[in-house]
Amino acid sequence: MSKLHHSRVPAYLDFTQSLTGLLLALFIVGHIIFEGSILLGPDAMEKMTLFFEGYYLFGERHPIIVTFLAIVISILFVVHAALAVRKIPSTWQQYRTFRNHMRRFGHEDTSLWMVQVVTGFAMFFLGSVHIYMMMVNPEKIGPYLSAQRVVEGWMWPLYLVLLFCVVLHAFIGLYRLALKWGWFEGKNYRRSRKIMKRIMRAAIAVYILIGLASLGTYVSIGLNLENTPVEKAER
Ligand code: HEM
Repeated sequence: MSKLHHSRVPAYLDFTQSLTGLLLALFIVGHIIFEGSILLGPDAMEKMTLFFEGYYLFGERHPIIVTFLAIVISILFVVHAALAVRKIPSTWQQYRTFRNHMRRFGHEDTSLWMVQVVTGFAMFFLGSVHIYMMMVNPEKIGPYLSAQRVVEGWMWPLYLVLLFCVVLHAFIGLYRLALKWGWFEGKNYRRSRKIMKRIMRAAIAVYILIGLASLGTYVSIGLNLENTPVEKAER
């Protein structure tokens, strides 16, 4: 391996981590909205499910499309996580130095990095469980089947924690990417950074609210499944 090639590897890895992070964050921005279609009623969520199964394109349902999507997301997820762990201080010594640094400078953006480490770590487990379930049971998605999984399948506690982790992680990640790549920098760097932080906070609040409201709706449908006509609840 030439010297030049060697020195390019960290930059390449860094770029790949940013790119996979960007794609995952954009996926989540869409995901919470699509799955939040339940807020408009079971029929809206049913239409969304049909759309992702290619029904409007092929005239019949192909849940395998969802499996394919889940495989793509899993690959991004694994690559992103593998590249991210390299940056986590792996020894106590390093962690202590880091903590002292944080205390001394009181740098908010460094504590944002810490939030990324904690939420990212939690998602190794929580995210994997969910993606795998979606990958292997793509035909079991829909207003009533999802609600059943949320309540009877005891997914609501996992979703509740995962919601906070993923929303924080995605929007803090986008904010940090915007700073790193100098998007929307404008003339006054400090001012645009302040504005971006405000947008980040607002987006986190809005997405948590939509997520909580959707989860509450799935729970309420799930608790009332006995009163749902069988032909509606089953495919
Ligand atoms: C292609 C892959 C994915 C598919 C098809 C999918 C699909 C779904 C569906 C249908 C629900 C509704 C509940 C249910 O049916 O169990 C849901 C909920 C949820 N998903 Fe995903 N998901 C995917 C990937 C992810 C990933 C990668 C994350 C984050 C790491 C995530 C986070 C969540 C959260 C937090 C909820 C609960 C949302 C709420 O509180 O309203 N999902 N997902």
